[in-house]
Amino acid sequence: MSVVKINVLQVPEGRGEVLEQRFAARAGDVETVDGFESFDLLRPTEGTDRYLVVTKWRDDEAFQAWMNSEAFGRGHGQQPPSSGEGGGHPGGEGGGHPGGEGGPPAGGPAAAASELWGFEVVTSATGQRA
Ligand code: HEM
Repeated sequence: MSVVKINVLQVPEGRGEVLEQRFAARAGDVETVDGFESFDLLRPTEGTDRYLVVTKWRDDEAFQAWMNSEAFGRGHGQQPPSSGEGGGHPGGEGGGHPGGEGGPPAGGPAAAASELWGFEVVTSATGQRA
């Protein structure tokens, strides 16, 4: 069964739009990665103020391979995390510059902190419009 990896992003007030635009600009990047199944960037509306990047992979190996790939480094400021489950927080406070176009004066990372959650899919159902 697939695995779900969720990157939990703490985004300071007013930075959400920048974050969303950066993800939108890169949404296509992972689509061709081996073992990648899906990703959703979720904007908080209730119960939390953290954004979730919910990703789904064929298995843990596929996810780890992507995390350690150059493609990930390119999209995440050349700082692939050391490794492993639950490590989760490659950048530490502030993370790194996500690279690419950047953009003044909001050039740095929009996310102030992040945390990785990992899950195995146990049961799934999908609606017709999913
Ligand atoms: C579970 C898998 C993922 C992990 C562990 C992860 C890790 C991170 C971390 C730690 C940050 C904050 C540090 C930084 O801003 O550089 C971040 C930001 C970012 N990630 Fe990911 N990421 C994941 C999935 C994705 C996916 C699938 C995409 C592609 C659509 C993506 C695109 C981005 C972008 C554009 C930012 C910059 C946001 C900002 O300005 O702060 N990430 N990611």
